[in-house]
Amino acid sequence: MEDERNASQEFALSSWSRYSAAALGFRNYWYPVMLARELGKKPRAIKICGEKIALFRDGDRVFALHDRCPHRGIPLSVGRKEAPGTISCAYHGWTYDLESGALVAVLTDGPDSPICGKVNVHRYPVEVRAGLIWLYVGDDPPPPFEDEVPEEFLRPNAVVEGYAEVRDGNWREAIENCIDEGHSKYLHRYALTTFWREAAAWTRGVDMVPSEDGSWLNRVRGETVVNDVYPRVGLWPRKKWWRKQLTGQSTQLSNRLPCYCRVGNPRSAYTSYQIFVPVDETRYLAMMLSVGWKTGLGALRFHLQQWKTLRWGKRHGFDPQDKWAISLMEIPPERLYRPDKSITGWRRWCHETARPQNAAERFALLAGGEPSPVQTVADGR
Ligand code: FES
Ligand SMILES: [Fe+2]
Repeated sequence: MEDERNASQEFALSSWSRYSAAALGFRNYWYPVMLARELGKKPRAIKICGEKIALFRDGDRVFALHDRCPHRGIPLSVGRKEAPGTISCAYHGWTYDLESGALVAVLTDGPDSPICGKVNVHRYPVEVRAGLIWLYVGDDPPPPFEDEVPEEFLRPNAVVEGYAEVRDGNWREAIENCIDEGHSKYLHRYALTTFWREAAAWTRGVDMVPSEDGSWLNRVRGETVVNDVYPRVGLWPRKKWWRKQLTGQSTQLSNRLPCYCRVGNPRSAYTSYQIFVPVDETRYLAMMLSVGWKTGLGALRFHLQQWKTLRWGKRHGFDPQDKWAISLMEIPPERLYRPDKSITGWRRWCHETARPQNAAERFALLAGGEPSPVQTVADGR
């Protein structure tokens, strides 16, 4: 038994070791990090993929710098704006250009300070699109924003409503929960929003299949069994007269690198996106978004409706249940079962298709081999 367990653990490590190593997320990707309306005149401190970042609004533009003054390590997010397009560190007034991160003046060392032009703070490429602030986190030059972000966000009539909050757990546990086939049939059975609906018992043939253009990994399912007779339990679920039995599989779910889960069909009136952005090893930023395609009054109505629905869902829907379960998970070790094919399919997909994370992976890819990890497996998964 023990041997069997070790063998399955070894199989797991070799099948998705790059995913296992990505405790802080995959680098060299664009990430949505905040709703644009939430960044005011005051700078904001955030953490993405383990990196401390300061966000600044200057007129109608947004900038992002590494949140650390190289002089004595004070966060730049507590600095002051002494001149347009700059931030002055709160401690000794070293003043940086927001666009380039270059040190352009040192207020406590006179206008001829010789250190000017010799110090730079890392700047992050930023885009403000679809009501969201997006950042590029990585060491390689950023790929064009439009080539990477789902096109649904970039349609000229795209409207986005939603909320974002930092939660306990690793980002992988959150995105795996999103495509986890079994949990919605048990955990969410007891959500207030499903009071009138009886979920089916179980589903055969769960799998993950790439979309035609290869950008999404779609969850597919076989036959759904409404109720069944189980050892010890008997007939389950038992019929409740006030509940309407659900027999179909209406929800479409798709994942995408670096951390997107799409719930629904992008051709319907609106689609939900749950984006689980890595903060550090034990926290993630849940961006719970609805994207619709409307203009004028239709767009206004969309904002109001979604604002109402999302607030209700945040309190009484599936969301608090998912958040709760993810915060309680303790893995590894784990013993997976048949419906978890959606999870292992996603892990393998990430392992095989995520951008190279370092020089050794880039070299392996150029040589035409399998990308092999050189990072240590941070959490032993
Ligand atoms: S620590 Fe920033 S200016 Fe001294
Ligand atoms: Fe869920």
